Amino acid sequence: MAATSKFLSVLDGQPSAIPPMWFMRQAGRYLPEYRRLRAEAGSFLNLCFNPDMASEVTLQPIQRFDLDAAILFADILLIPDALGQKLTFAEGEGPMLDPVITAKNLDAFRGRDIHDRLGPIYETVRLTRSGLAADKALIGFAGAPWTVATYMLNGRSTRDPSSLRAMFYQDRPFVESLLALLVEKTIEYLLAQIDAGADAVQLFDTWAGGLPWPVLDAVSVQPMRKIAQGVRSQRPETPILMFPKGVGEKAIEYVLLGECDAFGIDYAMDPGWARAHLSSHAVIQGGLDPLRVVAGGDEMTRAADAYLNLFHDVPYIFNLGHGFTPETPPEHVAALVEFVRRKER
Ligand code: CP3
Repeated sequence: MAATSKFLSVLDGQPSAIPPMWFMRQAGRYLPEYRRLRAEAGSFLNLCFNPDMASEVTLQPIQRFDLDAAILFADILLIPDALGQKLTFAEGEGPMLDPVITAKNLDAFRGRDIHDRLGPIYETVRLTRSGLAADKALIGFAGAPWTVATYMLNGRSTRDPSSLRAMFYQDRPFVESLLALLVEKTIEYLLAQIDAGADAVQLFDTWAGGLPWPVLDAVSVQPMRKIAQGVRSQRPETPILMFPKGVGEKAIEYVLLGECDAFGIDYAMDPGWARAHLSSHAVIQGGLDPLRVVAGGDEMTRAADAYLNLFHDVPYIFNLGHGFTPETPPEHVAALVEFVRRKER
């Protein structure tokens, strides 16, 4: 299939003088038009499961900033919800999943058909793709198994990750069978997104950092590899992007799998190291600290410029090193977009 968008042609290995650009958490609370629709929907989850509204939210940052790619508006925790672990977001509390998954109840979550619950998400993909110009890409996504498992095992965001490491050591077969279940369901979920119109898919492994190597390999690298292979074996044309946050030089292990079309670098990663060691294996995406955009001004554009200069002659996708935070001023985002597009080359 010929690449019709700049985002897809860069993923195909062609550099671009002005890199394609999108931002993690580009749709969200920092945008007044998002806050309006979310208030109308009543809750974040109502918004996710309403295809008309979710598709409108997905398109909002494209309309405002003319970005090169939209990312499906949904959440990584919809899979646990679809497996029967009820998801809620209490104001100011973050996500809650009930009941927590244990070795005793895991089997009860196996038999479910996730598509029953996730049908509206695929409809959002269809609606969004049909509302998006041909030169803009639509990115589908899922959480990587380890990150999703941290929420499933803890019932909420994990403040002390050592408890999960301990769980892995104490009952490795249980943790691995949960990860295996998530690998299987995530492949099904991503294939359905692709069939509904997603042009590429990204796996977010937010909690991959800080793990000793053999554990990182078992809980993050191998599950991501299996998902990428499962998706690629059935939809070989669809690019796969990986964002394991906080893995430092272990990033090399992901790109050497040969299954990763683009690797998202987080804000803590040395971009010079990434350029030297990763860019011959995968397209590099991102890097800029989202808090630079909260601050704005010359410091923001200088920091952005450093990434643009470093990656100017290799395929590169401009993005952040993690998602926008709610306090990001939209004018700073507009100034950043303008800077990337207008930079003297
Ligand atoms: O614009 C986009 O990036 C697409 C949509 C998207 C959301 N979440 C929407 C969202 C994506 C790709 C995600 C991924 C996600 N969700 C991750 C991985 C990436 C990352 O940010 O590290 C994780 C760990 C989650 C789990 C999650 N969802 C948490 C911990 C929270 C609460 C924290 C917060 O920011 O409120 C959410 C809620 C969430 N997901 C919001 C949005 C826009 C905020 C909901 C709201 O209050 O309106």
